[in-house]
Amino acid sequence: DRQPIIAIDGPAGAGKSTVARQVATQLGLVYLDTGAMYRAVTWLVLQQGIAIDDDCAIAELANKCKIELTPSQDIKFPVRVWINDTDVTQAIRSIEVTSQVSAIAAQAAVRQALVKQQQNWGKRGGLVAEGRDIGTHVFPDAEVKIFLTASVGERARRRQQDFKTQGQPEVSLEQLEKDIAERDWKDSTRKVSPLKKAVDAIELQTDGLSISEVTSKIVDYYQQRL
Ligand code: C5P
Repeated sequence: DRQPIIAIDGPAGAGKSTVARQVATQLGLVYLDTGAMYRAVTWLVLQQGIAIDDDCAIAELANKCKIELTPSQDIKFPVRVWINDTDVTQAIRSIEVTSQVSAIAAQAAVRQALVKQQQNWGKRGGLVAEGRDIGTHVFPDAEVKIFLTASVGERARRRQQDFKTQGQPEVSLEQLEKDIAERDWKDSTRKVSPLKKAVDAIELQTDGLSISEVTSKIVDYYQQRL
């Protein structure tokens, strides 16, 4: 017996984090950002100077590391992320981590280690989990499954806005579109748990919709279902 779970999946920059967080707040559920976990492992791999294709060393690191996610009042970084007791909240949003994370997240052993932890955290339910494989693999029995999308152009604009808010160096829209398209391609073509809409997920195309509009659509849908 467990509390309900909402699974939100979709490509990079579709607004999953912001929306998932607001849905969680409105419904009194816990928010789980699984992308932050893959980013934290990637940060540690880079920090330790391990080669991106050294599957063995990376598998060992993923199995041994301790990841903690804690909510925070900081509007720029509403979730604080720790790996092996180092606060990597800001560091995991860097261009370096972002450009390498898909290669790390494609490794079977890394996914196995992180999915196990996610399922452990979600045992009692009561959460909104967000990522690429939540509805398909992590919580296939989630009561509500949403597949959030937006055009590449729209997602690049949102990312640029995020960077501004976070005080990161400015990146051109063209570059952002290229990076997003590349990450989409890597995430949807990998062998293990590729980004895919679950058959029973609802697809929400969010171009031109505000965060609060998307949030209320999901909240309404949840309330109809339960
Ligand atoms: O959501 P975010 O952009 O932070 O995710 C970073 C990367 O982590 C994704 O591009 C993807 O490669 C990986 N990821 C994943 N499975 C998840 C969440 C994230 O493979 N459930």
